[in-house]
Amino acid sequence: MASKVNGVVRVGLIGSGGISGAHGLGFIKYSDKIKCVALCDVSADNLKKRSDQLGGVSKQFNDWKVMLKEMGNEIDAVDICLPHNLHGPAILDAAAAGKHILCEKPMCTSLAEADQIADAVKKSGVTYMSAHNQLFMPVVQEAKRMIDAGVIGKVLWLRSQDCFRAGGEGGDPFKGSWRANAKTQGGGELIDTGYHPSYRLLYLAGAPVESVHGAMGRYVQRIEGEDTASVQVKFTNGVIGEILTSWAFPLPHGTHHIHIMGEKGEIFGSSNTLYHLPRGYDQPSRRNFSDVNTFEAEIGHFADVLREGKRPIHSVEEGRAVLELILKAGQSAEGWQTTAHVKPA
Ligand SMILES: NC(=O)c1ccc[n+]([C@@H]2O[C@H](COP(=O)([O-])OP(=O)(O)OC[C@H]3O[C@@H](n4cnc5c(N)ncnc54)[C@H](O)[C@@H]3O)[C@@H](O)[C@H]2O)c1
Repeated sequence: MASKVNGVVRVGLIGSGGISGAHGLGFIKYSDKIKCVALCDVSADNLKKRSDQLGGVSKQFNDWKVMLKEMGNEIDAVDICLPHNLHGPAILDAAAAGKHILCEKPMCTSLAEADQIADAVKKSGVTYMSAHNQLFMPVVQEAKRMIDAGVIGKVLWLRSQDCFRAGGEGGDPFKGSWRANAKTQGGGELIDTGYHPSYRLLYLAGAPVESVHGAMGRYVQRIEGEDTASVQVKFTNGVIGEILTSWAFPLPHGTHHIHIMGEKGEIFGSSNTLYHLPRGYDQPSRRNFSDVNTFEAEIGHFADVLREGKRPIHSVEEGRAVLELILKAGQSAEGWQTTAHVKPA
């Protein structure tokens, strides 16, 4: 078990761009137990933006290696919000420096790197948390509770989806971005937005993956990887799962973010609404949950995990399992056989 952090957790934020602003809201909300004390980014504009949001962070760096060295014992942990290809190197450096780690998805972009990370985290004894923020969605938590309580009996099939038209009609949202490049992205849409429905599926299925088959397309976005993926998954407990995810079209009408069929009924829902339809009934019951900012919840959970010395909801093992599913989906998709899902010319 990793050592506990006494008092307020002091964090060095590595990558101060888009999503770090959502993490920033968590540092602000839970300032009694976690504080961002150092920033790192190669962009002066993004350092300023994040520092302003957080009420002024004077320790600023352009290189995380320098940050780890110079901050020394002044930080307990790092929060990594970098482009995907930089996650693995930053995690390995942070683990070598003895810092606890929260890392945005994906953990890294290859299984070899994932195994190196598993070794490094184990050896250094730090805590690693995968930033799987959608696990904090009330519908996901309640669906999991209902499944575990046997409300729909044995689970037979489940689906997890996340689809939207990125950039709207006629836009080119990824122009010049690291997301358009299969190397820096580590693939296409599936390893980015599609990563969320993937870990939700694994969480709800509650068993290891036996086999994966993917199909991919690039319909709208000007990126090297796929913009749409459909993945079939067989779990070792016999459950069948599927993932649909896209930057080309919205959630298919009448379908949901999660849908689970069991022997005694079904559970389905999106955003803050969850339905339960017992077998043999025509009309589902419906429950609405109040909005939860899942990024704030994630930062609060990271602080609790470090202060109480407990295991995070998802760690290295789950980070590796999601990555393996995504890479296998790409390798099995005809015409998209490379690890990075790039469609051959
Ligand atoms: N959980 C979610 O819903 C969600 C949403 C968006 C992004 N993300 C994840 O967050 C991560 C970052 O995505 P983003 O949208 O914030 O990207 P971004 O491009 O807005 O931010 C990345 C930041 O990293 C900085 N950077 C690049 N190279 C660097 C280096 N060598 N050293 C230091 N800083 C460097 C960039 O200047 C930029 O500020 C990705 O892993 C992405 O998948 C998660």
